Amino acid sequence: MFLCQLSIISLLFGAMVFCQHQNYDFEYEYDEEPDEEYPPIFHFNPSIEYVIPHFPTPIKCPQECFCPPTFPLSMYCDHRKLKMIPNIPSHIQQLYLQHNDIEAVTAQSFVNATALKEINLSHNKIKSHMIDHGVFAKLSNLVQLHLEHNKLDEFPFPLPITLERLFLGFNEISKLPRNALKGLVNVTMLDLCNNYLDDSLLKGKYFSNMKNLMQINLCNNRLHTMPPDLPFSLMYLSLENNSISYIPENYFNRLPKITALRMSHNNLQEIPYNVFNLSNLVELNLGHNKLKQAFYIPRSLQHLYIEDNDIEFVNITLMCPSIDPRNANHLTYIRMDQNKLTAPISIYAFFCFPHIRIIYYGEQKSSINQLTQLRTPVVRRFLTPEEYDEADDGQETEDGHEEGEREDDYFHPYVY
Ligand SMILES: *[C@@H]1O[C@H](CO)[C@@H](O)[C@H](O)[C@H]1NC(C)=O
Ligand SMILES: *[C@@H]1O[C@H](CO)[C@@H](O)[C@H](O)[C@H]1NC(C)=O
Ligand SMILES: *[C@@H]1O[C@H](CO)[C@@H](O)[C@H](O)[C@H]1NC(C)=O
Ligand SMILES: *[C@@H]1O[C@H](CO)[C@@H](O)[C@H](O)[C@H]1NC(C)=O
Ligand SMILES: *[C@@H]1O[C@H](CO)[C@@H](O)[C@H](O)[C@H]1NC(C)=O
Ligand SMILES: *[C@@H]1O[C@H](CO)[C@@H](O)[C@H](O)[C@H]1NC(C)=O
Repeated sequence: MFLCQLSIISLLFGAMVFCQHQNYDFEYEYDEEPDEEYPPIFHFNPSIEYVIPHFPTPIKCPQECFCPPTFPLSMYCDHRKLKMIPNIPSHIQQLYLQHNDIEAVTAQSFVNATALKEINLSHNKIKSHMIDHGVFAKLSNLVQLHLEHNKLDEFPFPLPITLERLFLGFNEISKLPRNALKGLVNVTMLDLCNNYLDDSLLKGKYFSNMKNLMQINLCNNRLHTMPPDLPFSLMYLSLENNSISYIPENYFNRLPKITALRMSHNNLQEIPYNVFNLSNLVELNLGHNKLKQAFYIPRSLQHLYIEDNDIEFVNITLMCPSIDPRNANHLTYIRMDQNKLTAPISIYAFFCFPHIRIIYYGEQKSSINQLTQLRTPVVRRFLTPEEYDEADDGQETEDGHEEGEREDDYFHPYVY
């Protein structure tokens, strides 16, 4: 079950988590200072069905494009400096128009294109007012629409009710028509990162009607509060780099399926102690906020990111108020560099979180705005509590300034 959860995440998040628990080499990924780019933007792997049909040859294909004989339902018109969308033949199901100079989406091009399932119009110059009204809504087989990296200032509306995946990242969207989301019951993935969305725009906007929504990406927008009215089905919520300063205490009561929450680069200072008491939460990223205090860690959580906050002391009792050996916590990784820690967290952590493999301390911010390094920048893999205790005792100072033998010498990986 646990492995399956991992595999779901790897499917949805790209290559971040692998399904081989035994071989999963954290050191490989986290040995160095973790990548600045991390975490990556969510990627949803489309499940494209390629059915090779029988067509009388030759098949019609606009001269600007390429229709491969082996995939006769696909039409490739990408990277061609096109200014207009060619007329699309009626049998085409996949249409690739990314990386062109297209500004308008005209009904004319799509009059016969009733079979379309997937359109990629990313990296163009499409403007909202240049999209003919209803042009997408008429495509009654469309499941996937890429409009990221364009010049849209408004959420496209109306859209076909068959739609399952919608990509609108890297636009200038600052308008969301009142009924824009209303019929979109089959959408599972909605990407709105890198737009100009603010709180007022999301108010009263029927997200909860999207009863199959599994993932919503709202990173790099202008939100100051948590998005309202998200549907019960939601599993992946991306809110990085907004200006959110608090999470209402009961916020996740209506979102029991949440599996990954990414809220790095916000203004969180205090978090209601129990707010993450969620039985499916596996990844929690609260890095680059202003947190001072620990909070309750649910049993399911595996990866915790709280780097670049203002934490001086981690109270393990708060994170883990009780221990149930038959029902151990799943936490394997904590990243907590760039806080204000002066000592490693208590040995009790290893009783509470017996699966811990890495605690990444990296550099800490000292009170005088300098970076200091704990003697223990990374605790790797398993240590028995006895081993940890020994290592801790051997550490004569806590100021972290002195350069000693290599930090890792204290901690020999425990191989199991
Ligand atoms: C649509 O199909 C009809 C019938 O095959 C054809 O005459 C017409 O030119 C097509 N229109 C476009 C815009 O491709
Ligand atoms: C759509 O185009 C983008 C490039 O803008 C590319 O990264 C992506 O893989 C394409 N997606 C599909 C399903 O074709
Ligand atoms: C939504 O998806 C389900 C299951 O794939 C399908 O049966 C149904 O027809 C879809 N609804 C619409 C409006 O496309
Ligand atoms: C956050 O978003 C702003 C624009 O809204 C951008 O300039 C900045 O680079 C982003 N920061 C991160 C860490 O992504
Ligand atoms: C978490 O929620 C469950 C009920 O869903 C409750 O029984 C338990 O006491 C809560 N734990 C904490 C630490 O609040
Ligand atoms: C940790 O938190 C618990 C529960 O709030 C509290 O009783 C305890 O005093 C705290 N420990 C320290 C060292 O602050």
